[in-house]
Order: sequence, then C-alpha cells, then structure tokens
Amino acid sequence: MLLQPHQRTKLDDADDTFFYDYPRFVTHVDTGFIQQLTDLYRQQLQPGFTILDLMSSWVSHLPEEIQFTKVVGHGLNAEELAKNPRFDDFFIQNLNQELQLPQADQTFDAVLIAVSVQYLQYPEAIFSEIHRVLKPSGVVIVSFSNRMFYQKAIQAWRDGTDDQRVQLVQSYMGSVAGLSDPQVISNQTPQSTLLSWMGLGGSDPFFAVVSRRLPAETTATSSS
Ligand SMILES: C[S@@+](CC[C@H](N)C(=O)[O-])C[C@H]1O[C@@H](n2cnc3c(N)ncnc32)[C@H](O)[C@@H]1O
Repeated sequence: MLLQPHQRTKLDDADDTFFYDYPRFVTHVDTGFIQQLTDLYRQQLQPGFTILDLMSSWVSHLPEEIQFTKVVGHGLNAEELAKNPRFDDFFIQNLNQELQLPQADQTFDAVLIAVSVQYLQYPEAIFSEIHRVLKPSGVVIVSFSNRMFYQKAIQAWRDGTDDQRVQLVQSYMGSVAGLSDPQVISNQTPQSTLLSWMGLGGSDPFFAVVSRRLPAETTATSSS
C-alpha cells in the first residue's frame, strides 16, 4: 500500500463538500507561480487538445492564446467553476468519496491538477483513473507549492518537506503501470529558498511533476 491509513487522515475530517460550500474568488498562489505554471502548460499542451482540469476553480492557468478543442473542469464549488473562462463544461465530484471519473476510456490529451493534489486521500485510485481517461501519450501535469488549506491536506503531505512532497507525487504516478517515469520541474535553488526564507522576494516555490500515458505496447512489455 502506497499510504498507510493514518497518512490519509485530515485534521478536519468533515466531508470536503462542506469546506468548499461557499465560493472563494481568490488566487491560491502568487503571480510568479502562476506565470511558471502557464509557461509549463504552453510547453506541454498543443492546440486542439481535449483537457480535463481536475480540482479546479474560477481561475484558469491555461495560456490564453492557445485554442483547445474542449476543456472540462472539475471541482467542488459550482459557482467558482461557472466563472472559469476556459471551461466548455464542468462537473462536481468529491474525489475522496467517488473514486471513479465519469468519462470514457482515452478521452483526454491532458489531465491537470493545480495546487490541489494534497487533498486527495486515495491518490492511487485517482491516478489510475487519470491513466484510464488519458489517450495514449496523453500528459498528466500536477503542480504544487508550499501553500495549502492545512486542515484539509492529508497527513503524509502536512508532515513532508518539499522534497518529500515531490517524491510523494512521483510515487502516485509510479503506482500506475501505464504511466511513464515522472519528470520533476522546480524553481527551487538553495539561493531562492534562502531569499524567500529571509523575506527578500522570489515567488512561491514552484514544483510540477509530469508524466505520460505509455503506448499500449510499452505497458504490455513492461508488465510481462
Ligand atoms: C486550492 S484550490 C485550487 C483550485 C485551482 N486548481 C487553482 O489552481 O486555483 C483546491 C481545489 O481542490 C478541490 N478539492 C478539494 N478537495 C476535493 C475533493 N475531495 N474532491 C474534489 N475536489 C476537491 C476544490 O474544488 C478546490 O477548488
């Protein structure tokens, strides 16, 4: 088992739906972080892609100039999701209660999770579903910083260092046989960490872990 039961616990263990009952029209990370995320999306996402933006809100981090075929949003607050300018469609689903995504196999070219992965209590199941709904060679991009709703993050995340959180997300992707070895992107250097710690600027720490759905033949070979 990837996570022990106690590592999945939250300080606030009430249904997540209650926590997201009212809309929060805020941004959860600073502009430096968002710029890096949008640049990463610009590198990884092609015009014409069909995209699933899991655990999303009223803001989009997608590059404005790229036209996608379809962008499907997901989250827990309908008022927030209805305001997101990029969504063609969205759905509400508590991923800690309903672990299966409603979409058919191989629907999306890309699945995104921005600054939210820390709230998943059963990440192995969700990443298995992400793999299922990705087309072959489709990409999954998980980004995060060191900010969070502390009482709603799982214990494994709360107690981890930045490096341990990166390893945790790598292990989530690594637990799915048909996903490629995850690639880590980070803006953290010892200098930037020190400057930020001293309050001398820099943006929120940026981490992203990127993986792709392997073509069917590769999975069959590697699992044989
Ligand atoms: C910090 S916000 C991030 C929103 C968005 N990705 C962004 O970058 O602005 C966390 C999001 O995670 C989603 N979320 C938290 N717990 C969830 C759960 N149990 N099931 C589904 N979504 C959840 C909420 O909808 C919320 O909008």
